[in-house]
Amino acid sequence: GTASSSSAEAAELASPSALRQPFVIGVSGGTASGKTTVCDMIIQQLHDHRVVLVNQDSFYRGLTAEESAHAQDYNFDHPDAFDTEQLLECMGQLKRAQPVNVPIYDFKNHRRCSESFRKVNASDVIILEGILVFHDQRVRNLMDMKIFVDTDADIRLARRIRRDTVERGRDVSSVLDQYGRFVKPAFDDFVLPSKKYADVIIPRGGDNHVAIDLIVQHIRTKLGQHDLCKIFPNVYVVQSTFQI
Ligand code: CTP
Repeated sequence: GTASSSSAEAAELASPSALRQPFVIGVSGGTASGKTTVCDMIIQQLHDHRVVLVNQDSFYRGLTAEESAHAQDYNFDHPDAFDTEQLLECMGQLKRAQPVNVPIYDFKNHRRCSESFRKVNASDVIILEGILVFHDQRVRNLMDMKIFVDTDADIRLARRIRRDTVERGRDVSSVLDQYGRFVKPAFDDFVLPSKKYADVIIPRGGDNHVAIDLIVQHIRTKLGQHDLCKIFPNVYVVQSTFQI
């Protein structure tokens, strides 16, 4: 009867997953466009909320010994280089407010760390960052907001040379060779066409404080609406009826 259905409703409202569907933000853009900086700035400014960052890089498939021997011929910029099924599984769990173990990827050896994981806890905001996070429709569908970091290709190449030689154990000639053979063509074929799915395009990346402020403001408004639904479920119902 009425009593049992209303208690079922109450139970649903009281369950953490019903109350707190995390807000998921996708951050995409070409290699070395400044995605990480943009994510760090958003995380910093949302300090009073629980925010976690998930990198698509963590879901790179580890290379076999044979593939490793010819790593210079491997296309790390093609969608197939990632284990998207596993990414979907992890994101699904986080959306249901369950903690997950995210793999750790080693860019020097093109392998996954077999023994260690990074534990990611449930949170209010999940940021998913990577060159191809807008490529797969199922991954896009998880996102409440999509941001594309738009930085000129020459700036990106300059940063990539510096980063890969300093942090990823490469030499300049191999970086340039990989860029011409794989990185640039895959950017044109897969990354750039996915820009059309973005809600917001940030020119110049992390230098663009105005854009970051606007985005953080919007996220705060959205989280505020979540909170309203949590504390006053009836207000939320009235509001949605009003909108219809
Ligand atoms: N890559 C590589 N070797 C591997 C795996 C990946 O060189 N074993 C490269 C791919 O070629 C791809 C890049 O890693 O282009 C993806 O990382 P990128 O987006 O450049 O790194 P982020 O730090 O996420 O980017 P940003 O500078 O925008 O923060």
